[in-house]
Amino acid sequence: MQKILVARSIFPDVIDRLKQYFDVDWNEGDVLPADELKRRLADKDGALTAGDMIDAGVLAAAPRLRVVSNMAVGYNNFDMAAFNAANVLGTNTPDVLNESTADFGWALMMAAARRIAEAEHWLRAGHWQKWSYDGFLGSDLYGSTLGVIGMGRIGQALARRAQGFDMRVIYHNRSRVAPQIEAELNAEYVSKQDLLRRADHVVLVLPYTKDNHHTIGAPELALMKPSATLTNIARGGIVDDAALADALRDRRIASAGLDVFEGEPQLHPALLDVPNVVLTPHIASATEATRRAMANLAADNLIAGLGVGPRAGQPPNPINPDVLGKARS
Ligand code: DGY
Repeated sequence: MQKILVARSIFPDVIDRLKQYFDVDWNEGDVLPADELKRRLADKDGALTAGDMIDAGVLAAAPRLRVVSNMAVGYNNFDMAAFNAANVLGTNTPDVLNESTADFGWALMMAAARRIAEAEHWLRAGHWQKWSYDGFLGSDLYGSTLGVIGMGRIGQALARRAQGFDMRVIYHNRSRVAPQIEAELNAEYVSKQDLLRRADHVVLVLPYTKDNHHTIGAPELALMKPSATLTNIARGGIVDDAALADALRDRRIASAGLDVFEGEPQLHPALLDVPNVVLTPHIASATEATRRAMANLAADNLIAGLGVGPRAGQPPNPINPDVLGKARS
């Protein structure tokens, strides 16, 4: 029987599915440090990860490893050049999380615009004595301009929600989406600078790559309206969190909603000191149904990628399909 490592705690029934095909080493505890990850991968044919860093060093320590299945759509934790060099297949879990993640982005953007977390903390702290005409004034979503940076599947799901709020949608993306999608979403392609100047609410939904590091830093924040909000449901590192904390403290933008952070689960300490930011612990895809769908899709990818089960050899979401069928090097 082939051996796999499940590097994170996941639904036990998904582990039971995997046990039908594999000898499973399951880490139910804390995130494995790199050395321990290497030690436990040394005799494995496959792995199921969720954000664990898999680079050339890890692959070199795991000479039998042929498939690594990430339970996430984002796979910036995989060094894909190293995967290709070693003929190791990487897989991810796109699509099944689009709507839950867009819902959450919407919730975070609304919470930031309407100052929901800030008001709730104030109320819990016992400060509420009377209704006041200017208590926690925020900004409207309805009828405003939404700026989406990263118009992939989740960005498009956000843009569809904007139609119900009668919003103008402007977007920036590495490349322009097809004209029929633009028409369907009533979305206008603009430069990043133009988007930052015009949008009332900016949402980040782009993948993390070296080129996207600090896509939003001090110069970009300086272009935004003082009344604007910024929501990040993409990845830590896309925003310069220190520059954002400064801009929030100085009210150079109105507020932010952040689900992802540079160096998470650590946070830039200055973010904890500013009231006008809503902070959540990387939960945009966290509904019961969606996390189950992601876990099962990650299992499907691993089972098929390792050549067993009903779709043997045809995993649903290969990131680097060119390595399929090649011998491990
Ligand atoms: C994803 O799927 O990439 C989510 O951010 C969870 O990591």
